[in-house]
Amino acid sequence: MELTRLRGFQDLLGPSARAVAHVEERARAIARRYAIEEIRIPMLERLELYERSSGETSDVVQKQMYLVRRHEESDPERGEMALRPEGTPGVVRAYIEAGLDKGDPEQRFFYLGPMLRYERPQKGRYRQFHQFGVELLGRADAAADAELMFMIDDLRRELGLELSFEVNSLGDAKCRPAYRAALLAWGRAHLDQLCEDCHQRIDRNPLRLLDCKVDARLAESAPRSVDFLCDECHRHFDLVRELLSSARVPFEVNPRLVRGLDYYTRTAFEVVSTAVGAQNAVAAGGRYDGLVEALGGAPVAGTGFAIGIERIALALDAAKLGGARADVVIIALGEKALAPAVAITRELREQNLRVEMLSPERGLRALLRRADRLGVRLAAIIGDDEIARGAVQLRDLKTSTQSEVPHADLARLIRTTRD
Ligand code: HAM
Repeated sequence: MELTRLRGFQDLLGPSARAVAHVEERARAIARRYAIEEIRIPMLERLELYERSSGETSDVVQKQMYLVRRHEESDPERGEMALRPEGTPGVVRAYIEAGLDKGDPEQRFFYLGPMLRYERPQKGRYRQFHQFGVELLGRADAAADAELMFMIDDLRRELGLELSFEVNSLGDAKCRPAYRAALLAWGRAHLDQLCEDCHQRIDRNPLRLLDCKVDARLAESAPRSVDFLCDECHRHFDLVRELLSSARVPFEVNPRLVRGLDYYTRTAFEVVSTAVGAQNAVAAGGRYDGLVEALGGAPVAGTGFAIGIERIALALDAAKLGGARADVVIIALGEKALAPAVAITRELREQNLRVEMLSPERGLRALLRRADRLGVRLAAIIGDDEIARGAVQLRDLKTSTQSEVPHADLARLIRTTRD
């Protein structure tokens, strides 16, 4: 057996790691501006959590779970655990477990981390991927839904991406049953044209029929949820659209948009990129007003989204992102110079300069060649004579000039050359 990585899993190095880190940094900065706190939840949860939230009929639970089994026969958790395929269920569980649903229900969380789904890998679709997600709990108002999309829109602007927003309303506990019944009737009438999966799920979750893989055009003739909304859902949806329009978020209503996860009520949205190929859904979310209660908590509303970090990173021009390139390399000549060179290195880093100390085991010429290959412009060369004089030789590899500079001037000179 070769020790290669598993299919659908990625090693990120160089520009691709840089792009992912850049998106994560921007997302964190936006969360800070919206005064949203981070939440860290486990990778491993009881399988039942996902069955009761993402939904037993969802593809995620039916086909994509990574189950973790403990070997010991006596282990009470044997076979019941799953690696998280998404963050929302874990966040809601943690919220209930901390007693916030009853004690202090209005909470705003963001999370960032790996998710696992056993999907068919292709560009932009991986078995381990990262999500940046936001969950606003205890907020039933349309402004909360709009705020989520404002955050994604801020990211779009800051990263210079071309994204479009699609929104829909799926109704609530009051008006959804009538829509469900209409879809069921439509599905039964078109059963012969629907795929194998649809035959399975028609009775349990007819909303999923709109995602039928066999004939996408068929869904055009299906009933639309917006035609079944009750007055409250209508008002909520109107307000969401008004708020998006007044904030100039570019969106369209997509009446066929249903989400692949079961917990959504009212607002559902997806954000697609024109730049990343077939897997173009870079973010998605919506309202889940019944979820806290379904998982054993108080009847508290909630709304949220998650961004696919890798998919956003694919849309970026990674070549333009700066790496961890040093401002200066330090070269110690001879054993006696080593300790003073280490001290200078640490001092420069304390002054917020990027400094790489090269291996003292090679000769000067080889080290200068290496600095050049790393794209570093300056080399500070430190030998016995320089130490005695409290100075270093500062070599500019771009202009091939070198001069002795007093130790005290070093940081300033590095900074002026760099800027
Ligand atoms: P989701 O649509 O399943 O929603 O995933 C959100 C985003 O994660 C997708 O739009 C996509 O960018 C990314 N993503 C999903 N699967 C993959 C994959 N296999 N490879 C790469 N990226 C992927 C949720 O997960 C909900 N929890 C969102 C939410 C939060 N709704 C309310 N709150």
